[in-house]
Amino acid sequence: MTFTRPEQVSDALGIPFSDQQLAAITAPLEPGVIIAGAGSGKTTVMAARVVWLVGTGQVRPEHVLGLTFTRKAAAELSGRVRAALARAGVVDADGYDDAGEQLIMTYDAFAARLVADHGLRIGVEGDARMLTGASRFRVASRVVSAATGPWQQLARLRPDSVTERVLALDGELSSHLVEPDRLYDHSLEVIGDVERSPRSRTKDLYVSMKKAGSFAAERTELAGLVEEYQRLKRRLGAVEFADQMGVAAELARRVPQVSATLRDQFRVVLLDEYQDTSSAQAELLRALFSGRDASDGRGHPVTAVGDPCQAIYGWRGAAAANIITFAEHFPRADGSPAPGYALTVNRRSGQRILDAANALSTPLRADEELQWDGIDTDLVAPRGRRRATSRWPASTAGRTRWAGWPTTSPPPTTPDGPRRGRTSRCSPGATRTSGRCTPSCSRAASRSRSWAWTACWRCPRWPTWSPCSACWATPRPTPTWSAS
Ligand SMILES: Nc1ncnc2c1ncn2[C@@H]1O[C@H](COP(=O)(O)OP(=O)(O)O)[C@@H](O)[C@H]1O
Ligand SMILES: [Mg+2]
Repeated sequence: MTFTRPEQVSDALGIPFSDQQLAAITAPLEPGVIIAGAGSGKTTVMAARVVWLVGTGQVRPEHVLGLTFTRKAAAELSGRVRAALARAGVVDADGYDDAGEQLIMTYDAFAARLVADHGLRIGVEGDARMLTGASRFRVASRVVSAATGPWQQLARLRPDSVTERVLALDGELSSHLVEPDRLYDHSLEVIGDVERSPRSRTKDLYVSMKKAGSFAAERTELAGLVEEYQRLKRRLGAVEFADQMGVAAELARRVPQVSATLRDQFRVVLLDEYQDTSSAQAELLRALFSGRDASDGRGHPVTAVGDPCQAIYGWRGAAAANIITFAEHFPRADGSPAPGYALTVNRRSGQRILDAANALSTPLRADEELQWDGIDTDLVAPRGRRRATSRWPASTAGRTRWAGWPTTSPPPTTPDGPRRGRTSRCSPGATRTSGRCTPSCSRAASRSRSWAWTACWRCPRWPTWSPCSACWATPRPTPTWSAS
């Protein structure tokens, strides 16, 4: 089948795509980014985009590269794309490339493949032993037990804890492409800053500064061990996933030929869950698929999708801000920022759940590093399902702080009008029966037990962490539950 109109994708896949989704699916062959909340159809749109591009004859299936995080997600996306292509009748049921390999793989597998195919160009053997789980712990603990010290900070830890810290720091440094030397120098600077910091009235360092100082001192000791661990890995011909990503990024940066080959091979690149990419991954992708000018790959059609509020790999060096800076880092061929596409309707949940999600994500959305145009847009259910059960106005939920105290002074209103002065429905710990809390709320009870953000948890105006409006005017409260 050959597509000529966007609606044909909806018909072929049997999904009633919205105008927002169709705009992203049928976007021109240029970089683009979709930043949208959970369940808004990002992955579905990516799969449909492949169908559109193949169905309109703009690319062949084997020219599409899709990357995601876990093998499970890669298999799922691969299955979705393949099924979508087959269902739309634009390829036969296989959907494999010429080499018989799947078009969609994990970021780690992609880096491993790059190092295996091209590593020798920068003197790296492609057949290194992969260190995971227990084997990496064993190698790192060899370094720790052979270390002579003397340590000031590490001396208070058990050797196993030191090993864990060496591994964690090594992973973080690799993900951020930072050498242990640089960390060491930076830690010394921090120690100097702490020593020069203002003192308390008793001329002591403030507790938080003391903590920062000992943390930096611990890092000066760990940096040497990490360096030793990296040396031992090289001697053993062993690598970890994060190391491979670093090598792949270096390869892409130092050997332009590799980028040119890959851009020729993959005319369209789709990046799922982009908020979870590390600095090394983002740099690798940028070096491969976006250059200094149009002849160097700038404007290559790379579509990234993600949601900074769902970033889950911060602990291993992911930088959720990568997706925010995507438009600048992957500009169009003329150098202007890549366009962004919004998906604001959630397809998975009812409005009541979405209101809770909107309220829960409020502190995240206030994060300075995660600002983008659509940050204030709350998730909504499709129109037919919006009636759901929530009576908490989405806009008010969005202004509720994590600690549970609304940032705006007027009490929220409900369809029944302002709640100030009403004494029913909000008793702490009350169970909800037919839309009301029982027993009735009373100010006295609220003061003694419920200045806690769970006070109205079961009230009809859920979700909220504020006390009921009857108790609104009473002075603030600690945000912890104290129902003793
Ligand atoms: N226009 C639509 N109409 C109905 N269901 C949709 C539509 N778009 C997406 N979906 C469905 O919504 C669910 C969530 O989509 P998904 O692409 O996994 O979201 P995300 O990647 O943003 O978390 C999937 O089951 C998908 O089939
Ligand atoms: Mg998804």
